Amino acid sequence: MKNFVYSILTIILLGVSTMMSCTKDKVTNLPQVNCLDTISFSTQVLPIIQANCTGCHGAGNGTGYVLTNHSNISASANAILGAMNANGYQLMPQGGPALPDSIIQKVACWVEQGKKNN
Ligand code: HEC
Repeated sequence: MKNFVYSILTIILLGVSTMMSCTKDKVTNLPQVNCLDTISFSTQVLPIIQANCTGCHGAGNGTGYVLTNHSNISASANAILGAMNANGYQLMPQGGPALPDSIIQKVACWVEQGKKNN
């Protein structure tokens, strides 16, 4: 009977710790998207792209991506986010390191807010 009780306790403990570790993993893996503030294309997104991408992705480069203005940046928004997250695209900036999450989030929020030209 004692052994049975211990087994049950062990199972409960294992279950709880598994659930806790899953919860923890989920929290750390979630992109911390907090889009409460409206992101501005001209004062936030464009400067991020200009500082980190346009040097190689200016007019006439051979990469297939020109990232210089609202129209071409919004047309490539999914690829830009994919490359910043190395998700389905090569990691960009090329050669890494990846941009800080807080920067990537700004771009993600701008996309989520409808890629405004604001
Ligand atoms: C040092 C130069 C350099 C920088 C900086 C750079 N890129 Fe690139 N990027 C390239 C080159 C070169 C390619 C083409 C690579 C190839 O075809 O193998 C490329 C390809 C890409 C692609 C297509 C990748 C794919 O897997 O199809 C995207 C999207 C992209 N860049 C976006 C960006 C973004 C967004 C930034 C800024 C965060 C950036 N790049 C910064 C040089 C650069």
